[in-house]
Amino acid sequence: MNKELITIKNLKVYYPKYKGVLRKVACYIKAVDDVSFGIHQKSTLGLVGESGCGKTTVGKTILSLIPATSGHIFFKDKDITHIQEEERKELARKIQIIFQDPYGSLNPKMMIGKIIDEAINIRYPNLSGEETSHKTCQILNKVGLYEDDYGKYPHEFSGGQRQRIGIARAIAVEPEFIVCDESVSSLDVSIQADILNLLKDLQTEKNLTYLFIAHDLSVVKYISSYIAVMYLGHIMEYGSRDVIFRKALHPYTISLLSAIPKPDPSKKTQRIILKGDVPSPIHKPSGCPFHTRCYMKKPECDRIIIQLKERDKGHWTACPFN
Ligand SMILES: Nc1ncnc2c1ncn2[C@@H]1O[C@H](COP(=O)(O)OP(=O)(O)O)[C@@H](O)[C@H]1O
Ligand SMILES: [Mg+2]
Repeated sequence: MNKELITIKNLKVYYPKYKGVLRKVACYIKAVDDVSFGIHQKSTLGLVGESGCGKTTVGKTILSLIPATSGHIFFKDKDITHIQEEERKELARKIQIIFQDPYGSLNPKMMIGKIIDEAINIRYPNLSGEETSHKTCQILNKVGLYEDDYGKYPHEFSGGQRQRIGIARAIAVEPEFIVCDESVSSLDVSIQADILNLLKDLQTEKNLTYLFIAHDLSVVKYISSYIAVMYLGHIMEYGSRDVIFRKALHPYTISLLSAIPKPDPSKKTQRIILKGDVPSPIHKPSGCPFHTRCYMKKPECDRIIIQLKERDKGHWTACPFN
C-alpha cells in the first residue's frame, strides 16, 4: 500500500459564536470534534454525512482556509497545521479544491482560457503568452472541452461544463492532492457519471490523491477506495469501500445506505428514515452524538464516550454495540 499523503490527527475545528457589541465569545460551534484519518497516495477517501456534519470544514482546514483549533494535519509527514505564509503559498499549489459549482469562484468577466492561463502561470511563471495558451488548450482538451472554448465566458457553459472548467483550473497548477467538495452533487446523474469518470482518469494519469466529499453514499461508491462516515463532527465508521457497502456496522451508515435506490426492486431493503435533523453542533447531545436519532439506541448511549475502534482489520466503528 502507498504511503499516506495526508494524515489528520485529533483535529478539532470550533467556530466561535460572538454576542453583544463587545463581541464576546458566547459559545463554540463544534464543527469538527476529534477527527483522525489518513489518505494514501493515489487513493480516494470518500467523506460522507448529512449536511452540517463538518465535511466542508475538514476540507477547508486541510487547505489552511480555516484554522485548526487543535490537532494536527500532516502532508507527506510534514506538519502543515500552522504553517507560515510563504510555505502556505507553495502548499496552495500542491493542494487544490473543487467546489460544488465553480461558477461562484470563476470571474464572470474573464474568458475561461485566461482563467486557466493564470493557473498555469502559478506553476510555470516564466512561460511566454503563447506557450501558456498552448498548455491551456491541452488542458481544455484533457477535461473534455475544446480549444474554441478558450475565448468563452463562464456563463456560456452548462453546469457540467463549468465543473470541467473547475477541474481544468485545479489540475493546471499540477497539484498532488484535490479536495472535491460536493463536486458532482448539483449535476444530473448521467453528467455526474461523466465527471466522476474524468476525475478517475485524471487520478490515474497524474497520480492524484482525492478527498471526495458528498452527502450521498451512492456518489462516493464509484470513486472511493476508502470511506469515512461523518456525523456531528465525528467519524462514525471508516473502512474500504467494499467493506462499507458489504457489511456496514454503524447504525448511521446503515441508514445512509438504506436511502440509496436499488436498481433491482426484488432486492429491496427497508429504508431507515431518521427522525428529525442533525442536532446543532453548539449543543451536541451527550454521550454518542447520534443517540437522539438512533433506531438501535440502548439506555447507556446518552452516557458513553464514543471512540473509533477497529472491529475487523481496517474496519473501524464508533458504535460500541455495532
Ligand atoms: N464560517 C463558519 N462560521 C460559523 N459556523 C460555521 C461556518 N462554516 C460552517 N459552520 C457550521 O459548522 C457546521 C459544519 O458545517 P460544514 O463543515 O459546512 O458541514 P457540511 O459540509 O458537512 O455540510 C455547521 O453547523 C455549520 O453551520
Ligand atoms: Mg459542505
